[in-house]
Amino acid sequence: MESNEIAGDLSKVLLTQQEIHDKIAELSRRIEADYEGENLLLVGVLKGAVMVMADLARELKLPLNMDWMAVSSYGSGTKSSGVVRILKDLDSDLTGRKVLIVEDIIDSGLTLSWLRANLESRGAASVEICALLRKPDAAKVEVDVRYVGFDIPNEFVVGYGLDYAEKYRNLRDVGVLAPHVYS
Ligand code: XMP
Ligand code: MG
Repeated sequence: MESNEIAGDLSKVLLTQQEIHDKIAELSRRIEADYEGENLLLVGVLKGAVMVMADLARELKLPLNMDWMAVSSYGSGTKSSGVVRILKDLDSDLTGRKVLIVEDIIDSGLTLSWLRANLESRGAASVEICALLRKPDAAKVEVDVRYVGFDIPNEFVVGYGLDYAEKYRNLRDVGVLAPHVYS
């Protein structure tokens, strides 16, 4: 689907597919330098990180494995509570592995800080984080994220894997959802 088919549902485009592509290439060069000679394990967080994972994994000129987790935050509404439930666990043994968590967005930081601690407790040699987007104004806990694509305003965004009610994940751009969609 082309972005402009449902572009009327966006109040603005924050990041174009070209900007996202360029940023993923830039992050990939840093990751390649940091993990030279290693066998990296990318852990994608379903479902939002599917697009970032697909593009990052193909851009990286490194031997790597890909695995997936699905987690959900307990709590009501759209706010993260920090209590996380594993809906789908990894297939991989993490013992001695260099792990890079691949995420779409860091909002409060609660999900990722829980996830990092969880993966570290399984004996990984290292656990780092790559997130395409981060909302600095929404942070509730400090998370040390080695690779961040873009810092964005504290607004609800969709596209490039990010959804509202399971829609818009297939948009190529990232945009702010127009109020008429949810009001
Ligand atoms: P926390 O708050 O724990 O949560 O960092 C991160 C998760 O919350 C979701 N999230 C969003 N999803 N547009 C979305 O489509 C947004 O603007 C947004 N902000 C947070 C997302 O699942 C992320 O992994
Ligand atoms: Mg997510």
